[in-house]
Amino acid sequence: MNFQLTEEHLAVQEAAREFAQSELLPGVIERDSEAKFPHEQIKKMGDLGFMGMMVDPKYNGGGMDTVSYVIAMEELSKVDASASVSMSVNNSLVCWGLEKYGSEAQKQKYLTRLASGEVLGAFCLSEPEAGSDATSQKTSAEPNGDHYILNGTKNWITNGSSASIYLVIAQTNPSLGHKGISVFIVEKGWEGFVIGKKEDKLGIRGSDTHSLMFTDVKVPVENRIGEEGFGFTFAMETLNGGRIGIAAQALGIAAGAYEMSLAYSKERKAFGKPISQHQAIQFKLADMATQIEAARLLVYKAAWLKDQGEDYVYASAMAKLYASEVAMNVTVEAVQVHGGYGYVKEYHVERLMRDAKITQIYEGTSEIQRIVISRKILK
Ligand code: CAA
Repeated sequence: MNFQLTEEHLAVQEAAREFAQSELLPGVIERDSEAKFPHEQIKKMGDLGFMGMMVDPKYNGGGMDTVSYVIAMEELSKVDASASVSMSVNNSLVCWGLEKYGSEAQKQKYLTRLASGEVLGAFCLSEPEAGSDATSQKTSAEPNGDHYILNGTKNWITNGSSASIYLVIAQTNPSLGHKGISVFIVEKGWEGFVIGKKEDKLGIRGSDTHSLMFTDVKVPVENRIGEEGFGFTFAMETLNGGRIGIAAQALGIAAGAYEMSLAYSKERKAFGKPISQHQAIQFKLADMATQIEAARLLVYKAAWLKDQGEDYVYASAMAKLYASEVAMNVTVEAVQVHGGYGYVKEYHVERLMRDAKITQIYEGTSEIQRIVISRKILK
């Protein structure tokens, strides 16, 4: 067993760390307060190869492994989880699904632009009445000659207005249940496709989360990914990998809050000495560090299993479940270590605490991860 990162992994870590400090940190508080999407920063992340890290270079990707991807996600999420969720959705949910299951024509037309960061993608599964219960899709795509007619509403879509390319899951044959669900590539600007209201969120406020409405949108048959009826499996398999990305985001949020708490505890004095010299704070720091290390091992293992071509469904669910709980625990403690300063925006940890909560909700709630894990245990 080798726990050491390779030269390549260390280089990715260094590049992501440097980018986070120089490009994401300035303005992150303002973007959060004003719910402003980090357009400029995401563009630069594309130029640096962060938006299609695992995609084959022949489709403009970085050709890197999943371990590199989680390392980058962790570093960027320490500073700006709103930028990192855009990156995660583009990499894990959109590029991965297209590269694995798309036709050569779809890859040439869409993947090449998504992987280079020229355009952003969105993954559209959730609906007003189909969140955790993803099989209950109401959005329909009715076959009509050389195209489908798409109707329905999607909710809580990350990159909702900033994306140009949308992977939309829809019912093509309701009588078949989840086996009658298909997946389509839809472009922004097509007639009948309307971007709905932007959500005013507790955390990840810089990311743009929207509802989307489709009214009689004509989707060409060649924009269906895989066979009719393949959409639910596509969504589940894509989310298995997506959960590794969100687990890495949660890990980064926790690690960012911990690093700030450690630094603050050495500077802030109380009762005549730095607060890091008080056991009450030392025990908090020790617990934070231990939980983060355990989460990191789960996240890296899930990524490693994926890179080895082994089953990673169980590992990714465990990594997301645990890392998101650690993100919540650690950020709450980080606010406590900072005392009154922790409760104001300037010190960042209150934002990280708000951002942490979503990691227990999106790409499958903690309860969904427990379902995935317990099914495996009891099989
Ligand atoms: N991997 C691969 N296949 C899976 C799977 C998985 N993790 N989970 C289920 N499946 C397959 C099953 O094998 C089954 O296939 P067959 O019929 O061929 O045997 C099929 O899917 C149906 O499975 P179930 O009968 O188990 O389905 P279910 O209705 O009981 O629910 C569920 C399964 C695990 C609860 C699923 O609905 C689920 O994962 N829900 C959560 C959805 C989710 O994560 N949404 C997040 C939205 S996306 C998002 O947040 C992105 C963003 O913008 C940030």
